[in-house]
Amino acid sequence: MIRLSAALDPTSPGPTAAPGSTSAPVGVFDSGIGGLTVLRALLAELPHERFAYLGDTARLPYGTKSGETVVRYSLHAAEALLDLGVKCLVVACNTASSVGLQAIRELIGPLPVIGVIEPGAEAACRASRSGHIAVMATERTVSGGAYQQAILRRRPDARVDALATQLLVALAEEGLSEGPIAESIARHYLGALFEGGAGSASIPDTVVLGCTHFPALAPAIRAVVGPRVRIVDSAETTACAVRDELSAMGIARASGASEVQYIATDGTERFARIGSRFLGRAILPDQVELIDL
Ligand code: DGL
Repeated sequence: MIRLSAALDPTSPGPTAAPGSTSAPVGVFDSGIGGLTVLRALLAELPHERFAYLGDTARLPYGTKSGETVVRYSLHAAEALLDLGVKCLVVACNTASSVGLQAIRELIGPLPVIGVIEPGAEAACRASRSGHIAVMATERTVSGGAYQQAILRRRPDARVDALATQLLVALAEEGLSEGPIAESIARHYLGALFEGGAGSASIPDTVVLGCTHFPALAPAIRAVVGPRVRIVDSAETTACAVRDELSAMGIARASGASEVQYIATDGTERFARIGSRFLGRAILPDQVELIDL
């Protein structure tokens, strides 16, 4: 592994601070650029924090890989962020959260580790009246059952339909998140479940976007599920969970502008170009550091 230097160039926008201190960065990790949707929510909720965002673009997608491989990759990414002296770690990747959270917690010890599955399940249970909830996620997230279990733990009477909608990841990366192609692929996955429209007892009243890329596809998903179904994602609830954790531990940064250090394992130009769309603000290629894990 090529490790990042914790002592960054003081002229660089990247964060430098003692590990665990208030001004240390919040580490955010994803398999690629999709987790920038979570970073976007974190920046809105925590405007004074420093963030170190690592996208493992060289090994994306995680969603089609075995659980063992995803855990191994996730531990490499967590180690790299740990080397930067982060004060907590946000696992923005649903797939990594679904299989790797426990292993990451064991690796990084007392530092808080926050995944996206529990906040996503919480948001879904709050939104659903009928308890019939559809989860859209990657193959690995669906087959591991983490969302299903997290929902049923909160709401034992819930009915959960989990759908592996992997092709939507590539679609969002291509920027084809709206229009006839996106709608037709969303219909391919969701049509059977939502046929007949919202309102029937056998149709979910809530859809969880259980993948970092899917918020970008919300309009296409909305076109298929209809106006009455609630569409929730975990980004905002995760950001609130991080805010609460930092203040409970007394390590929230209360003043100063936010900063982001962007790190990728491949393709800084692509990271910047497509990542800008997911983040909703410009990232320049020379702001992205390239590392090997
Ligand atoms: N970040 C992944 C997730 O949220 C989606 C992309 C991938 O398959 O790696 O599950």
